Amino acid sequence: MKNLINPHIADLKPYSPGKPVQELERELGIAGAIKLASNENPLGPSPKALNAIKEALGEVHRYPDGGGFYLKQALAPKLGVKLENIVLGNGSDELIEIICRTFLNPGEQVISADCTFVEYELVAKSFGAKMLKVPLKGFTYDLEAILAEVDDNTKLVFIANPNNPTGTMVDRMAFDSFMKKIPPPVMVVMDEAYYEYMMREDFPDSISYMQQGRNIIILRTFSKIYGLAALRIGYGIARPELIDYMNRVRLPFNVNSLAQAAAIAALDDTEHLSHSQAVTRSGRQYLYSQFDKLGIDYVPSAANFILLDTKRNGSRVYNTMLKAGVIVRPMQVYGLPDYIRVTIGTEGENRRLVEALKRALK
Ligand SMILES: Cc1ncc(COP(=O)(O)O)c(C=O)c1O
Repeated sequence: MKNLINPHIADLKPYSPGKPVQELERELGIAGAIKLASNENPLGPSPKALNAIKEALGEVHRYPDGGGFYLKQALAPKLGVKLENIVLGNGSDELIEIICRTFLNPGEQVISADCTFVEYELVAKSFGAKMLKVPLKGFTYDLEAILAEVDDNTKLVFIANPNNPTGTMVDRMAFDSFMKKIPPPVMVVMDEAYYEYMMREDFPDSISYMQQGRNIIILRTFSKIYGLAALRIGYGIARPELIDYMNRVRLPFNVNSLAQAAAIAALDDTEHLSHSQAVTRSGRQYLYSQFDKLGIDYVPSAANFILLDTKRNGSRVYNTMLKAGVIVRPMQVYGLPDYIRVTIGTEGENRRLVEALKRALK
């Protein structure tokens, strides 16, 4: 059997999606479980996006616009870029795949952090690349240590900013210094999936490097603050030449029409966006104060999730919380067996989270 399988694929461990919430409830004999495991927007999508989906439903017999013209037209002025600078993906996950397919040759080196979004390694390895994972420093990407590992064989560097699962951010000074030193042929991928949660002045201006003609691709998504995770839509920003190459391997209708319509409407709903930001901000403060009261160590977060040190087996804490109907994410696969990651929810969800955590840690 083994020789039937591409050797780059044979040893990969698949992403573990977990069971549907309804199935968990059935198995545990509980109801009303809350999911704080995947960093989704607890408020749901914008009502404007829902209306746009309803309006677009009658046209699902048509293929979607393969060029994503109207969405790019809505995005470009907001980002201060041209339409030719944007590529759309079936979630930013697909863009990670498109980037590796476009730029990587087997045997080339990809560098990222040792505790970061798992897709970089999974996809890079599936293309036969060598994956080098540089340890975080104080739970943050260590860009100096990454630079020290860059060699002639290095093709891509993936940086999640803020990082998932730690929630930490590489600041503008660190990133500017990194961009000064990184050899220009190396492609830098800045994955800014949680960009809209970032309320900080010192966040790197990654698009300015694209404007300077550098080898950089910025990834953003509609899955997080825009609440459209199920529709699978994200986008990449890069020089038109790079976008052109990526479009050569992209499937022609990779982003469906409901997703495109919803994304356009979501971009227009600034009220929903700022409400979502405010709920996250106040939820974060509430959770910090509760964790402080309970003496729980956490990593201060720039995103909509928080990494907690349970100081015991995190998977066991996860299982106990699960039985109380609170679904969080154990961190064993990230090499942090004592930790769990919790998504910041609504006020009521956060209270339930704290209660379940209190009981699980007793
Ligand atoms: C850092 C990071 N990048 C990308 C993604 C994938 O997002 P999408 O739903 O757009 O594929 C996630 C999702 O959790 C993420 O945390």
